[in-house]
Amino acid sequence: MQIKQFPYKHETLGVLFGYLLYSGNEGLLIDPNSPDEIETFCRKNNLTIKTMSNTHLHHDHIIGNEHFISKGINYISPVNTDDMEEIAVGNEKVQIIKVPGHSADSVAFYCKDILVSGDTIFNGTIGNCFTGDYSEYFKSLSKVISLPENTEIYPGHDLMDYAVGVIREIDPENPETDKYLMKVKTGQISSTIEMELQVNPFVRWDDQSLDSFRAKLDLPISTPLERFKAMMSVH
Ligand SMILES: [Fe+2]
Repeated sequence: MQIKQFPYKHETLGVLFGYLLYSGNEGLLIDPNSPDEIETFCRKNNLTIKTMSNTHLHHDHIIGNEHFISKGINYISPVNTDDMEEIAVGNEKVQIIKVPGHSADSVAFYCKDILVSGDTIFNGTIGNCFTGDYSEYFKSLSKVISLPENTEIYPGHDLMDYAVGVIREIDPENPETDKYLMKVKTGQISSTIEMELQVNPFVRWDDQSLDSFRAKLDLPISTPLERFKAMMSVH
């Protein structure tokens, strides 16, 4: 499976990303933004978009939906999916993982070493918990970080600068932060689960090196869920 990241400069939300997962000459389009760029890429690479879907239905993730639906492309709404459902792309399969928390309809798309994560997890941070159900978001993030460590995470937005600023405040002595910045590929925003477990303070509920910071918050921190919730108080 191959992946193409399509950056899109949003008026107020900075850079957001659409993706094309492709295998053979078939593609699965996720969170489409700029139709021209996507169609040019498909033409140049002899790819046919077979299916389109979204990581969730927030307005900034469905910008190109209407364009591609009007072209008759098969559309799968995240609302109408089941956990572990598979979508065929060429001779391969992409798995849908239900990850409610940022929104009730959030899903991630997983195939071998690739995870398209929407707003569930970004590089160095995670999304807002708009559902208010922290326990559900915790379960969803637990599913994500239990995928193979070399899985590359492709997020819905480029929040690197913001995330690194927060990491340096929360965890200033972390020697992995500079390495993380160097490893993130130029021209493509992505990182691995292994890297997130070293730097992202919102998925490191089992990492004792954050305990002294968490203790200062004066919140219960005896269980992994409590440690997650404590970190979310400074998200
Ligand atoms: Fe969102």
